[in-house]
Amino acid sequence: MNYFSKFYQQIAENRLAHWLNTLPAQLSHWQQHELHGEFKHWQKTLAALPKTQAKFLDLQQSVSVGKRSDINDGEFKRLENLLRKFKPWRKGPYLIHDLPIDTEWRSDFKWDRLHNEISDLSDRYVLDIGCGSGYHLWRMRGAGAKFVVGIDPTQLFFMQFNAIKHFIKDECVNLLPLGVEQLPELKSFDTVFAMGVLYHRRSPIDFLYQLKAQLVQGGELVLETLVVDGDANTVLVPGERYAKMRNVWFLPSTEAMCAWLERCGFSDIRLVNTDITAFEEQRKTDWIDTESLQDFLDPNDSSKTIEGYPAPKRAIFIANA
Ligand SMILES: C[S@@+](CC[C@H](N)C(=O)[O-])C[C@H]1O[C@@H](n2cnc3c(N)ncnc32)[C@H](O)[C@@H]1O
Repeated sequence: MNYFSKFYQQIAENRLAHWLNTLPAQLSHWQQHELHGEFKHWQKTLAALPKTQAKFLDLQQSVSVGKRSDINDGEFKRLENLLRKFKPWRKGPYLIHDLPIDTEWRSDFKWDRLHNEISDLSDRYVLDIGCGSGYHLWRMRGAGAKFVVGIDPTQLFFMQFNAIKHFIKDECVNLLPLGVEQLPELKSFDTVFAMGVLYHRRSPIDFLYQLKAQLVQGGELVLETLVVDGDANTVLVPGERYAKMRNVWFLPSTEAMCAWLERCGFSDIRLVNTDITAFEEQRKTDWIDTESLQDFLDPNDSSKTIEGYPAPKRAIFIANA
């Protein structure tokens, strides 16, 4: 199945046309050489999803498509069984014909913290780097964005996105299975989101330059990341693990993060929110089989991770290219 041919046709006609110089070769290499061992199974699951006609769609208050009454009992059961094959569902929640996909994360909480702080997305080209299953892509579209692209290299999340898109059927929302390092300097997006990715990058300064290179002149960056308390010179570089995650590299203070953004040439830098992650926002549900926040914190002191570091605290920054 070619997941990308419609996307190529669309961008051939819009301001992303120059992406066609590199993208088809990258994605065809991906399809030929990099597919996950489970990919064929996921494809079969995707193909088996009931073909429903949903009249109801809400992307403004939630990500909800269709109603229970659109489908019969057999289809509803099949829907649930098939969607559960894409576990673990981390980012959401979604409501598909009134079937709640109760994801590990309440990603809507993050959206609520930021959506009044950012520039109006109406008619904007938007890029979400490290978008997971794409929950926020739908909310961006619901907020009026004209064309929304997400990138995320995790193939399960690509399939989860396609499962949701099977029901929402909006050609202006797309997810590409790419890492940020595979993007050319597109200089084309009015808003770039990078949420929950900076601390996974071994070179955060290079990452900030990569984000800037995707924006039009004056475009808006929305950056969310883990931070620690401290002054402009405080940066935590954890040992092998932070909250049981192996791939966490740099946790700056909010002041240090602002200094990095300024050093990379961003202007009008604003810290708009800080928030300690609560158990209501990240928790174990029956749509994941793995551990969650409760298991990552010190059982006797929830202000510390199990390794003794400050517990996850997240901050949202807005800046202009
Ligand atoms: C903590 S999640 C954040 C998801 C979402 N942006 C949010 O804020 O809820 C980090 C995401 O970054 C993705 N990621 C990992 N390496 C990446 C890379 N090199 N480029 C882009 N995304 C990456 C992961 O697959 C994962 O979905």
